[in-house]
Amino acid sequence: MTAELLQPIRLRGLEIPNRIVVSPMCQYSAVDGSATDWHLVHLGQFAISGAGLVIMEATHVERRGRITQGCLGLYSDENEAALRRVAAFFRQHGSARLGLQLSHSGRKGSAHLPWEQRGKPLAPEDGAWETVSASTIAHDAGWPAPRALDSRGLEEVRQAHADSARRAARLGFDLVELHIAHGYLLHGFLSPLSNDRGDEYGGSLENRMRYPLEVFDAVRAAWPDERPLGVRLSATDWVDGGWTLQDTCAFARELTERGCDYLTVSSGGSSAKQQIPLGEGHQLPLARAVREASGLPVMGVGMLFDPVRVDEAIARGDCDFAAIARGMLSDPHWAWRAAAALDGEVSHPPQYVRGYKSAWLRGLRS
Ligand SMILES: Cc1cc2nc3c(=O)[nH]c(=O)nc-3n(C[C@H](O)[C@H](O)[C@H](O)COP(=O)(O)O)c2cc1C
Repeated sequence: MTAELLQPIRLRGLEIPNRIVVSPMCQYSAVDGSATDWHLVHLGQFAISGAGLVIMEATHVERRGRITQGCLGLYSDENEAALRRVAAFFRQHGSARLGLQLSHSGRKGSAHLPWEQRGKPLAPEDGAWETVSASTIAHDAGWPAPRALDSRGLEEVRQAHADSARRAARLGFDLVELHIAHGYLLHGFLSPLSNDRGDEYGGSLENRMRYPLEVFDAVRAAWPDERPLGVRLSATDWVDGGWTLQDTCAFARELTERGCDYLTVSSGGSSAKQQIPLGEGHQLPLARAVREASGLPVMGVGMLFDPVRVDEAIARGDCDFAAIARGMLSDPHWAWRAAAALDGEVSHPPQYVRGYKSAWLRGLRS
């Protein structure tokens, strides 16, 4: 019998050939939001990796919503043209499905490239820009206070999400994931650590959920009916007084009612005070709880090292598919290793057939 990890999964009109997903990973290699040759190389290797689905890095809906000056965007015709080339290249050579993660960095924007100064804001002389958020609470000590979005700003950002979704649809992306995690703009509305608004978008859980749900509805309306739309969530802030797993379950139920197709369960990102109990599969218990509360397919993520243990997690109902990030950087043929370990098959190009399931690959397993 085919291992669970290697079985296809259907989301709306999209058949994904297996449950192995390349998790979105910012590459900080765009120019004014436009993809470059780096994206051809980076995504090209994953197109032929045997993974069922590749979700492209956080792709920002506004220029000021980028994390760094190198972040990818889909806010201009130039961005759309550059990404058209990448998406066409991916489809020409690969067999994986291609997803795009829509995001707005909120108060964590205007930051340095991580290999220059990781997690540090740009100074004015480096080209810093004004960021926006739910409130004026800064991300951390040393970070500037963002501007709180007013009603016009809320409308503009909602519209920007819908416009980018329409661009993604034109480019033929198979799936969109809305980023409501890791302390970026929409998670910032959910979390009491970053939202102290006094209007209908702050205060109670219902009010804090309102804006992210409005954005979800706008994207769903702009994105073709037959194509799946998922959401990445931080299931907890890992800080007392922050966003909790219980809140996430309530939010997940709202998303289910609104036509969300799957949830990726991550965590953290709101506060430097977070205490994350790291370890192999450390977010799977959160994934299981959200899966049970929402009834939706759930993508597990976070330190999923071993294909056999990932397969077991799917079989026992922790999650339905698995996103791998750093493991794919270190071993772009992680899916081949899974196929070898689970005695199954994943797609592989004929040019590479002599390496697939070879003695070299078996060597990796030991
Ligand atoms: C280089 C890099 C870039 C990342 N960029 C994103 C991103 O654009 N969007 C996102 O939701 N998560 C991003 N993440 C988080 C990963 O998708 C993933 O959730 C996290 O690394 C844990 O999975 P892992 O243990 O398999 O690496 C990034 C991680 C890395 C290592």
